[in-house]
Amino acid sequence: MRHLIDPLDLNLAETGRLLDLAEEIMNRQGEFAHCCQGKILASLFFEPSTRTRLSFESAMLRLGGQTLGFAGAQSSSAAKGESVADTIRMISCYADIAAMRHFKEGAPFVAARYGKIPVINAGDGGHQHPTQTLTDLFTIRRCRGGVDGLTIGLCGDLKFGRTVHSLIKSLVRYRNVRFVFISPEELRVPGYILKEVVEPSGHPWQEARRMEEVMPQLDVLYMTRVQRERFFNEEDYVRLKDSYILTPEKLGAGKGELAVLHPLPRVNEIDQRVDQDPRALYFEQARGGVFVRMALILSLLGLAPGVLEEREWQGA
Ligand code: NCD
Repeated sequence: MRHLIDPLDLNLAETGRLLDLAEEIMNRQGEFAHCCQGKILASLFFEPSTRTRLSFESAMLRLGGQTLGFAGAQSSSAAKGESVADTIRMISCYADIAAMRHFKEGAPFVAARYGKIPVINAGDGGHQHPTQTLTDLFTIRRCRGGVDGLTIGLCGDLKFGRTVHSLIKSLVRYRNVRFVFISPEELRVPGYILKEVVEPSGHPWQEARRMEEVMPQLDVLYMTRVQRERFFNEEDYVRLKDSYILTPEKLGAGKGELAVLHPLPRVNEIDQRVDQDPRALYFEQARGGVFVRMALILSLLGLAPGVLEEREWQGA
């Protein structure tokens, strides 16, 4: 049995084949409408979510399967003190696959160890968010034809943003990628990611405090919101929340084929006028997330032969 807890749970070839399948599903949706008939997805969301939860549920419904679950820790037995290990043991009796979002780093990892069904990490604390990464890669591949050779700017809360952490982990596996990390001093990419992921990759990287300085170099600009819920005090959040606001004027210095991505939700970091620019791909990115999750569900349930290799999940 395989799980997706960390982006490295899929090797590069598997990632490529999964994104190919997502593309095939996007182009020929009708052919996949009954693939998961009789199967149930449990969506276990201990933390708020709109896109991720609904896109998992939409993905399963579009495959002809069904869903059950909860959308907050208060409405689950976690409120009574149940452990993640016990929750997933029970859910294994009710569903064939589970997507779990949890405020605690490592919770989906524990679920994968104790459950009897494939577990997908739908975001754990400030740690990882591998299905968002697949969605990001899907969007980059579609608009730029591939990932190799691109200069990728990541902007905003690079400290607490789990989508950023997962994306970096996955991007280092491509060739000739260059990173530009744009953040305030206090929200820099965590030291362990620079040391254990970016530096060993040998890819060039730089840090910038102002997006204007680096805009002309970028092929992809990945904007993120400041993660209010992970701050220790409100004052720091208020001081840092508007560190970056992408406006049409700032975007004016960007390349004609620049791709502007954002995992959403957006708060203030992208001026709504930017939405009209053809380089603004974030809503298209969210649409792609459904096809990516359809491909993932099929693969983990063993219904898409050839995408995943025959091996047991080890935990990356
Ligand atoms: C992201 C998340 O939950 O980490 N949202 C999402 O899944 N699309 C980004 C965020 O909340 O800022």
